[in-house]
This record gives sequence, structure tokens and C-alpha cells, in this order.
Amino acid sequence: MSFYTVSAVLAVHLLAFAGWTGFLAGYLLIGAAALRLLRWCLVIMPVSLVSGWGLAWVQYGGPAAWPWAINAMQTAGLAMAIVLLIAWFGGVLLVRDAESAGDPPAIAGAARRLRRLAAVDLLLGVLILGFAVLGRFG
Ligand code: HEM
Repeated sequence: MSFYTVSAVLAVHLLAFAGWTGFLAGYLLIGAAALRLLRWCLVIMPVSLVSGWGLAWVQYGGPAAWPWAINAMQTAGLAMAIVLLIAWFGGVLLVRDAESAGDPPAIAGAARRLRRLAAVDLLLGVLILGFAVLGRFG
């Protein structure tokens, strides 16, 4: 694959990283009014994973040859995806149910759980950044 193609895939991968972690941070800062930012994370998540797998295959070949940092990135990336899916298909639905029941304590509880899941997801993103940097310079 040409230098330009690999560079383009890396650019997509880095944009996906910036979008995913940035929208999570935006949601945590703005709060419930910014639920649509989580929907964007859901759209970006497969782009991040697929571009990561593409980069790893092109640079190192099959998984057996991947350095530890890429394995760690993949593991934490899959965990990040699962936490996001739980947040969206569990947390957001709980908030909506509580809203349609018009139950303020339940709304507050569900929103708090959703914020916690988003915070865990963001922390996983920061951990991945650590793996990426250590893999390059460590
Ligand atoms: C399927 C999972 C993933 C795989 C296989 C993967 C693979 C890779 C590869 C091969 C690189 C290039 C490393 C280099 O050139 O030294 C890279 C870079 C990077 N990845 Fe991933 N990645 C995955 C998921 C993620 C996720 C979920 C994030 C964050 C949301 C992420 C963030 C980054 C960052 C910040 C870099 C830049 C490192 C650099 O170029 O120095 N990756 N990834």
C-alpha cells in the first residue's frame, strides 16, 4: 500500500480518536442537553476500530506480529466500544424511560449513571493515548 494511503488511514484513525474522546468530554461538560454528542461517538467508534485494524495489518501483517502496544490499544479499544454500547443502549434508554415516566429522582439517577459510563469511556481513551505514545517512544 502506498505511503499516501497509509498516511490517509492514520489521519482518519487520529481524527476518530479526537472525535470520540472530544465528544465524550463535550457531553460530560455540557450535560444532558448534549446527548447527541454520544450518538456521534457511536458513529465514530467503528471508524476508529476499522482504521486501527487496517493500519495494524498494513504495518505489521497478521496479529501474531503486532507489538504489545497495538495489542493493548486493540484490547482497550474494544473495551471502550463495549462501554459506549452499554452507555447508549442501556444508559440513554434508562434516562428516556425515567423522563417519559416523569420521575425526577429516577431521571437524576439514570443521568448520573450515564455520566459515569461516559467518564469511564473517556478514561479508556486517555489510556489508549498512553499505549500509543509508549509504543512509539517506549
Ligand atoms: C482495533 C483497535 C485498534 C487497533 C488495531 C489500532 C492500531 C493502531 C496502529 C497500528 C497505529 C499506528 C501506530 C504507529 O504508527 O506507531 C495506531 C495509532 C494510534 N491509535 Fe490506534 N488502534 C486501535 C484502536 C484505537 C482506538 C479505539 C483509539 C482511541 C480512541 C486509538 C488511538 C490511536 C492513537 C492516538 C494513535 C497515534 C499513535 C501514533 O501515531 O503515534 N486507536 N493505532
